[in-house]
Amino acid sequence: MYTVPKLEDYSPEALDRAVAELFSALDAESRDLHSESDWKAFHDRWLARKNGVLTQINDTWLKAAPGPAKREVGRRVNELKARTEAAIEAAQDKIHASASSTKLAADRLDITLPGIQRPIGVKHPVLRVMDEIVAVFKAMGYSVGEGPEVETDYYNFESLNFPPNHPARDTQDTLFIADQESKPARDRLLLRTHTSPVQIRTMEQQPPPVRIVIPGKVHRNDPLDATHSPVFHQVEGLAVDTNITFCDLKGTLDHAMKALFGSSVKTRFYPSFFPFTEPSADMQVSCIFCGGKGCRKCKFSGWIELLGCGMVDPNVFDFVKQNGYDSSKISGFAFGMGVERIAILKYEVEEIQLFYEGDVRFLEQFA
Ligand code: DAH
Repeated sequence: MYTVPKLEDYSPEALDRAVAELFSALDAESRDLHSESDWKAFHDRWLARKNGVLTQINDTWLKAAPGPAKREVGRRVNELKARTEAAIEAAQDKIHASASSTKLAADRLDITLPGIQRPIGVKHPVLRVMDEIVAVFKAMGYSVGEGPEVETDYYNFESLNFPPNHPARDTQDTLFIADQESKPARDRLLLRTHTSPVQIRTMEQQPPPVRIVIPGKVHRNDPLDATHSPVFHQVEGLAVDTNITFCDLKGTLDHAMKALFGSSVKTRFYPSFFPFTEPSADMQVSCIFCGGKGCRKCKFSGWIELLGCGMVDPNVFDFVKQNGYDSSKISGFAFGMGVERIAILKYEVEEIQLFYEGDVRFLEQFA
């Protein structure tokens, strides 16, 4: 750091040398400033009235100069003061400029940087299969409907020909909404156990003919295991018109299964029971893994049970008789299928839980 030397030689050359030394020190110090506070210290060191470098110059150079040298020294000191002040001002400008330029750089958008990639999601496999099933029926002229997930006893059971206390209700593992005892039995709320209540809701809304599919979420008091979940999805179907027969049911479902699983798949219908259909059937497809030869997946039977169906029971039509559903004039078929079950078969998914865990590694495979 520069300290003001005492002058012994007052010759013009010696004075020039002393001045040059001072300026090279001033230069070096001003180049080493990085912040406003550096500059402030620099400013005070040189310009402070008490003990600043210029004050010292005044005392040690000018005041101490012998008479004949005073003029020469005085001229140089005046010049030097002006240059020093200018240099200090310039140093401040430089600091301000560089501070605002680093701020600008930080604010600036660098359009050459790669962007942040936000992956666009894909349809969840359950929704995808549900949409696929719906599309197959839409192509056959079906409309699409929906109904509430919180349903009354009337729509979920009674109007579907499950009389109060009938043992067929036991098969539905129903989750009831609490504190409904004060209401008449048919108005009590529950979580719908199937999409079938929307059959009645649809027929209340429109007279025959009807061709509708109803996708939706259903709930059962079932423990979670590899193939069961308390919340799952179904697609319901209903067709009502004059002269609808079991042949129509078979032909429609056979076509739908070929559309979903490929044209080589076969269907067969097995006698079953549902309160709202008569006759009722379970529809099976030829095993999509072994083509019907028999394997572990189909328990060596060559067939896989896929959905419930049947001809709409006249007792069901009686609940909507006033809306044109006279069972002596019209007939219909209905079916209901589990969406997860079909997705599990289509994509060979090992566990139903994978659909609900939201693990991106699983979901990505459907991208
Ligand atoms: N709702 C039935 C269930 O969840 C499935 C079903 C069977 C629906 C036969 C139908 C049908 O429409 O005709 O177990």
